[in-house]
Amino acid sequence: MIQIFPESIVLGLARGVESGPDDSGYSPALLDSAESSRIEVRMLEETDRQIDNPRTRVTRHRLAPGAHTGFHRHEFDYVVVPISGGRMRIVEGTQEVYADLSSGIAYFRPAGVEHDVFNDLDRELVFVEVELIS
Ligand code: NI
Repeated sequence: MIQIFPESIVLGLARGVESGPDDSGYSPALLDSAESSRIEVRMLEETDRQIDNPRTRVTRHRLAPGAHTGFHRHEFDYVVVPISGGRMRIVEGTQEVYADLSSGIAYFRPAGVEHDVFNDLDRELVFVEVELIS
């Protein structure tokens, strides 16, 4: 069974594994071998920034099979233009939802969105994000 954790938690655990207890005495319980199977570190997506100016930022996102974007917050309204069709799994807070992308069919989302996006498909997911800065 695969359990997914938001990137922030995964990274926190990974750091704990590397550094062990710190001066505060913090020692993650998940270091116990019985718990370590719950840690899953996933591959991050690849991005390339194509436009970056005071008005807009355009980024292509490529998610290999099994990859995710990492937890992030959208500071600006944005438009997503899917290049490939397919299903994304989206973790928003405690909610997990699916979004079906259609190649070439854009959608809009408002600033403030916080999520992690996963590609559970067996093929690459590609989309272009256009952030509306001003
Ligand atoms: Ni996003």
